[in-house]
Amino acid sequence: MKTEVIIIDPNNIENEKDKLSYAAAIIKNGGLVAFPTETVYGLGANAMDREAVKNIFKAKGRPSDNPLIVHISSKYSIDNLVTGVPSWAQKLVDNFWPGPLTLIFKKTPSVPDEITAGLETLAIRMPAHPVALSLIDESGLPIVAPSANKSGKPSPTTAAHVFEDLAGKIDLIIDGGPTRVGIESTVLDITSYPPVVLRPGGITLEQLRDVLGEVRQYIEDYAEDGKNPGYAKGKDKNNCAGNCGEIPRSPGLKYKHYSPAAKIITVEGELEKVINKINELVVRYEEKQVRVGVLATNQTKDLYKASTVISMGDRNHPDTIASNLFNCFREFDNFNMQVVLAESIDKTGIGLAVMNRLIKASGYNIIRV
Ligand code: TXA
Ligand code: MG
Repeated sequence: MKTEVIIIDPNNIENEKDKLSYAAAIIKNGGLVAFPTETVYGLGANAMDREAVKNIFKAKGRPSDNPLIVHISSKYSIDNLVTGVPSWAQKLVDNFWPGPLTLIFKKTPSVPDEITAGLETLAIRMPAHPVALSLIDESGLPIVAPSANKSGKPSPTTAAHVFEDLAGKIDLIIDGGPTRVGIESTVLDITSYPPVVLRPGGITLEQLRDVLGEVRQYIEDYAEDGKNPGYAKGKDKNNCAGNCGEIPRSPGLKYKHYSPAAKIITVEGELEKVINKINELVVRYEEKQVRVGVLATNQTKDLYKASTVISMGDRNHPDTIASNLFNCFREFDNFNMQVVLAESIDKTGIGLAVMNRLIKASGYNIIRV
């Protein structure tokens, strides 16, 4: 299959109607279209077309027990898909949609099992991106869309990333420029109260608590007191994000998301100690002729002795780090690095989601100083 790429300018969406109806026609005919959202690029298909949904799993090489998120626009009612919206949860919809918040509802029987991997629940979000919203409107359908990467690679934040992973496997890529947030949406289970964050993401825990009061976190790796890290020694490091042996609340949590060619080691602690530790390790690895790189920040990048140092962004503006992180992972893969030593950042605000992705990429390889 030849994968076509078209450019749609998100700032000039009124004049892009022809291209949008072209893309929507592919979706309506059961094809696969990658498109930008505010978080990462998604790989879209008609949610109501079972064959198209199955083809998404095939194109990505995604395990079939990992369910998909349905993307809607304000023109599409979810009444047909879910049994209802709890009254307290309506506040979340009002405050954060469109935006990087995925809500887990109880589903109705009309939702194809292929989407939910047999679960009784359904994930839905309304993306805050003009191209995504117009594509949904134009097709008049709910669109399922996982991140448009090959399974096991970082989520794509540019059309070039999508092309790298999926060229030849999907019909169309809409290039709408780099995505703004850079990491995926927050997944929040609202099927019981208080709601539980299953995946930290673009909407922060603080933002959710401002609106709702009580919100729990499922991932014990990030216990707020820092005393109960799920990545403590003895856990299965390969394929499990804490809670090993239990049935995972969100199937995606049990998969190691991104396995870089290089071994990533995250160093956590007071910044000065982190820098010293990383420099000490750089020397040690280089003595052993190991190709070692450092994942740093704007504030620290000049303080390292390694020959390859990549900055994730500005520590004082962790949103810049979120938007660069996945691109940095891909860059290190291109450099053929053997070991990458990564700084950690504060797990507040969007920093919580950044550290979640970084620690997953490290395969729970963490040094505390
Ligand atoms: O920002 C995003 O959410 C992006 C863009 C494209 O919208 N999408 C995305 O989709 O990250 P994906 O498929 O890569 O991740 C969806 C996550 C997985 O961890 C999956 O297990 C979880 O959502 N999920 C989906 N349906 C679920 C359900 N019914 N219950 C619990 N978790 C669910
Ligand atoms: Mg994904």
